[in-house]
Amino acid sequence: MTLKDLLRNQLNEKELDSVPSAFEIIGSKEKAVAIVEIPDSMKKRKKLIANAIMAHHKNIKSVLEKKSARGGIFRTRKYRLIAGDKNTIVMHKESGCLFKLDIRKVYFSPREGTERLRIADIIMAELLEDKLTGGKTTELRNSETIDKTAELQSKSEHETRDITEHKKKVLVFFAGIGAFPIIIEKKTGAQTTGIEINPVAIKFFRENNRLNKANALIIKGDVKKAYKTFKDYDHVIMPLPESSMKFIKQTAHCLKKGGICHLYCFAKDNKTTKSLRRTTQNDLTRMTILQSRIAIDSITKSGTDLARGKIPDLDSITTNIMKDIENTGRKCSIIHIQKVLPWGPGIYKYRIDFIVS
Ligand SMILES: C[S@@+](CC[C@H](N)C(=O)[O-])C[C@H]1O[C@@H](n2cnc3c(N)ncnc32)[C@H](O)[C@@H]1O
Repeated sequence: MTLKDLLRNQLNEKELDSVPSAFEIIGSKEKAVAIVEIPDSMKKRKKLIANAIMAHHKNIKSVLEKKSARGGIFRTRKYRLIAGDKNTIVMHKESGCLFKLDIRKVYFSPREGTERLRIADIIMAELLEDKLTGGKTTELRNSETIDKTAELQSKSEHETRDITEHKKKVLVFFAGIGAFPIIIEKKTGAQTTGIEINPVAIKFFRENNRLNKANALIIKGDVKKAYKTFKDYDHVIMPLPESSMKFIKQTAHCLKKGGICHLYCFAKDNKTTKSLRRTTQNDLTRMTILQSRIAIDSITKSGTDLARGKIPDLDSITTNIMKDIENTGRKCSIIHIQKVLPWGPGIYKYRIDFIVS
């Protein structure tokens, strides 16, 4: 039953049209919060809407209304409690891990759960390749490798555990409550480090580390300064799409030769595959050929004519990444572009993966 169905006897047709058709739920079967956007025309009805949500979902103990866009360095937003418990701390389950958080104090988005798993899968694929190549993942691969990779992927869990003994080093800038580092460690056995500036997020990150019996190294601070002591990482993840581009120098410093950066950004949905075409065959073979195929499939092939303001297109972002890496005295190649989520008219959140040599 939809929210509209629930309210059918209490609102008129015009009001029903303005009822939000979807809302976000964060939490567990025991306790969750719902986040709704209520249009101005329905302000007087918001209590009614919130009570209907709680009546239908018994686990929802608080209903919050979005009162601002995300902002500030912590990337949080203002909420107003419409109904229910003012204690909005919940335990959210994702990919078999538990995350304690208060959405009023920290950034967290369940919509990014698929993306966290994608990164864990990339690291897992790399471990499988290490096993095949005796740790020489930077070497060229031939088509035989694909068959062997597929074969290995289907082997028993015992053998999969075996490959996780070769730990990867993964650094997560802007780590929030620790979802990326903890899921990656649990799925791949990687040695993870997370840097985060919000002290409340750090407190939850520490608690989540304990809750999941994870061993992430937790660094409280600004990536701009804190990065200096971290070197030779296999992967650096940059989940701050508004300004990841300002941290390219820090990424270059932390990555080992042949290491991969996963950078999130907002970009126009433009007609381009140029960024990938610039990638040499040699670089493409750096990732599994399977992954390269995903890259080609997931890059956008068609554009739209919608207004896009100042949001850059993918080509200018990839050009800037290459320039900024070159300014550090190193080189990079774009190996994968993943469309992550729609963000606005003609605008998407993308992940750009590049290897730094
Ligand atoms: C978009 S959120 C991503 C959080 C987390 N990675 C996740 O997936 O839920 C960005 C996070 O980066 C943190 N942040 C922003 N600027 C930072 C900086 N210069 N240094 C460290 N952390 C920063 C914010 O506090 C926020 O928690």
